Amino acid sequence: MSQLLRVHCFTVSRDGFGAGEGQSLERPFGHADPVPLWSWAGATASWVNRTEPGGTRGLDDCMTRDHIRNIGAEIMGRNKFGPQRGPWKDHEWRGWWGGTPPFRTPVFVLTHHLRPSFTLADTTFHFLDATPAEALERAKRAAGGRDVRLGGGVATIREFIEADLVDTMHIAVAPVDIGRGERLWDSPADLLDRFHLDTVPSPSGVTHLLFWRR
Ligand SMILES: NC(=O)c1ccc[n+]([C@@H]2O[C@H](COP(=O)([O-])OP(=O)(O)OC[C@H]3O[C@@H](n4cnc5c(N)ncnc54)[C@H](OP(=O)(O)O)[C@@H]3O)[C@@H](O)[C@H]2O)c1
Repeated sequence: MSQLLRVHCFTVSRDGFGAGEGQSLERPFGHADPVPLWSWAGATASWVNRTEPGGTRGLDDCMTRDHIRNIGAEIMGRNKFGPQRGPWKDHEWRGWWGGTPPFRTPVFVLTHHLRPSFTLADTTFHFLDATPAEALERAKRAAGGRDVRLGGGVATIREFIEADLVDTMHIAVAPVDIGRGERLWDSPADLLDRFHLDTVPSPSGVTHLLFWRR
């Protein structure tokens, strides 16, 4: 079976934003409060960043469980990796995730400002200045026959949709408005020319949108 490029658990506000304005070290999501955006995922038993036992096992958990299933590499944008912009002042920043990042695969960080690869536990970060198609080819080679996850942020997902490279996409819409920042869409209907869409409301208050290529 061919390798897919999959988006999972990417969460937007009702008004279509995946991050607020003014991303910084103190506020990775800008002015937006990440709690109402992300609490649906953090409550589930399968969430990758869960440190305590327990968690829900319903519909939301099915979605977070699928996040890691058969994934062999991730592609992300530089702004997801960190709040720095422009040339690196040094290479001390190693991402938000501490010494044991949850990816456990190669991760390809797209940036015009290259730096050497490094490994933390079982995750290796590589920095790539490449077109979406080139980045995907590289990630597929590294994924050992498994699928590639497109991890965000917003600009990177938009870029890969624009290049028609995304096969499946799970977007959660949280019941909150952000108002300004990085916007994924005006409406999910924008994508119906190239994707099928199932819309599944969850008891937690989020709505899961499942897109797959026409
Ligand atoms: N809502 C969610 O589920 C979710 C998930 C993940 C992240 N986030 C949030 O999303 C925000 C980041 O999203 P964002 O839209 O600001 O940025 P982003 O998509 O993470 O990164 C965009 C940057 O990546 C680099 N880039 C992208 N494509 C490239 C290419 N083809 N070649 C070279 N460089 C390329 C460029 O950086 P250079 O300047 O280095 O060239 C570009 O400015 C953060 O606040 C993060 O916390 C939200």
